[in-house]
Amino acid sequence: MITTTDLTKVYRTKDREITALDGVNLHVREGEVYGVVGQSGAGKSSLIRCVNLLERPTSGTVTVAGQDLTALARRGRRAPSRRPTPELRAARSRIGMVFQHFNLLSSRTVQGNVELPLEILGLSGRERSRKALELLDLVGLADKARAHPAQLSGGQKQRVGIARALAGDPKVLLSDEATSALDPETTRSVLRLLRDLNEQLGLTVLLITHEMDVVKAVCDSAALMRGGRITESGTLPELLATPGSELARELFPVSGAASGDRRTTVDVTFHGETATEPLISQLARRYEIDISILGAAMDTVGGRQVGRMRIALPGPFEENVIPIGYLREQGLQVDVVPPGEGAAQETETALLAPEGAR
Ligand SMILES: Nc1ncnc2c1ncn2[C@@H]1O[C@H](COP(=O)(O)OP(=O)(O)OP(=O)(O)O)[C@@H](O)[C@H]1O
Ligand SMILES: [Mg+2]
Repeated sequence: MITTTDLTKVYRTKDREITALDGVNLHVREGEVYGVVGQSGAGKSSLIRCVNLLERPTSGTVTVAGQDLTALARRGRRAPSRRPTPELRAARSRIGMVFQHFNLLSSRTVQGNVELPLEILGLSGRERSRKALELLDLVGLADKARAHPAQLSGGQKQRVGIARALAGDPKVLLSDEATSALDPETTRSVLRLLRDLNEQLGLTVLLITHEMDVVKAVCDSAALMRGGRITESGTLPELLATPGSELARELFPVSGAASGDRRTTVDVTFHGETATEPLISQLARRYEIDISILGAAMDTVGGRQVGRMRIALPGPFEENVIPIGYLREQGLQVDVVPPGEGAAQETETALLAPEGAR
């Protein structure tokens, strides 16, 4: 549904060039909710703004719903221009966008805000009003049509933002940190709304977030951005099954002190079907080793039950190659925690904290 090929974006300021996107190949399938995470400055907003060509890519292509937007932007132009072509404007009206700070017009009522894009699309007053009320009903705000944005809570404002984004009957919804300004409870209800819209309308959602909980709650797939590139991507089950995946570790952290000199720490991941307890005791019996459980958790990731356990085996890694191989043969995913690596909490900070905070 959304494909970017070798997408680059270089911002040129007076004294320097900043490469915000450095060859991004993104592929979002129709009907999925796709999350992009990464630390501040990684290029997430640049990516989403390039997807609807609010920002003109420096090179590469963007295809949304089978239309090459980068080509539409160029069509019929002899000289490059900032103004969108009518073709691009039409294609863009089929892509909804939701913003962190809602971007509502304070002088207009809630209904007036939702009607704004419908005015631009040229609908008559009656049609606008009918459509706006229908959309407000869809986001659960039918009774607030005549209120002004200042009279709404943050979550309600974001619902208006979502209703407005749906005005052009988009196939695709883009969301840049739509829940970052909201408290956890309101975040959950807005995420539920996005998930409902995804299911009811078949809407494809590309969302940017710095919260792993958001990915865990609503995303089918996710990508990690770093320094203008996508360093990991896949469906959540694929990521969880990828040895050494940073995203998997963030999605599903287990705590517990890491390896010392005389033991090997491993994270064992199992998906619903694999029962670990007998496997761990079998391992202990078979190789006559004492196993310490340092941490364990069950969670739902992408709608599936997943378990993870951090265990310590006596002796250095070289002495544990065979037991680790045994666990892998049983279909468990085993990641060896490098000696000296801290608890999961610290890795999370490294991945998502703003650059300055480290
Ligand atoms: N209009 C602009 N002009 C110049 N540089 C820009 C512009 N917009 C973004 N940048 C730079 O491009 C890089 C990527 O920025 P971007 O906003 O895409 O990051 P981000 O991942 O969305 O970060 P955050 O999580 O803080 O929102 C940063 O180094 C930023 O300073
Ligand atoms: Mg951003």
